[in-house]
Amino acid sequence: MVIKRADLPQVANSIMNALHEDEIEIINELYEACQKGNMERIDELMELLLYDIEEHFLTEEELMREAEFFAYPMHKAEHDGMRKEVKALMESWKKNREAQEISNFIKDRLVPWLILHIARWDSTTAIHLGD
Ligand SMILES: [Fe+2]
Ligand SMILES: [Fe+2]
Repeated sequence: MVIKRADLPQVANSIMNALHEDEIEIINELYEACQKGNMERIDELMELLLYDIEEHFLTEEELMREAEFFAYPMHKAEHDGMRKEVKALMESWKKNREAQEISNFIKDRLVPWLILHIARWDSTTAIHLGD
């Protein structure tokens, strides 16, 4: 397990909290599949992670647009940066089949990014959106 539920900052909007909880389950499963070197499972979970991240970011962006949240462009730019990184990771995975690259990315980049992003951006957004 690379991230526990207790490590996830809670925000003032239950939809967003649910999105984050779902995401860390996929992240933990993918991390475990990498540790085991289960290539088929990594293929499945990488697809699932990309899909889930898109759903997570898109849902937040829709909520922000509906609420006409002033920091929408900055928050979306943060999402766009990570969208690019995970797409690049997927390209590299397809080409090189390096499970270690994925587990390093999860541990050193995605998880710290997620915790910081939620604490900085999602929490402020959630306060504006309410529950
Ligand atoms: Fe989020
Ligand atoms: Fe966000």
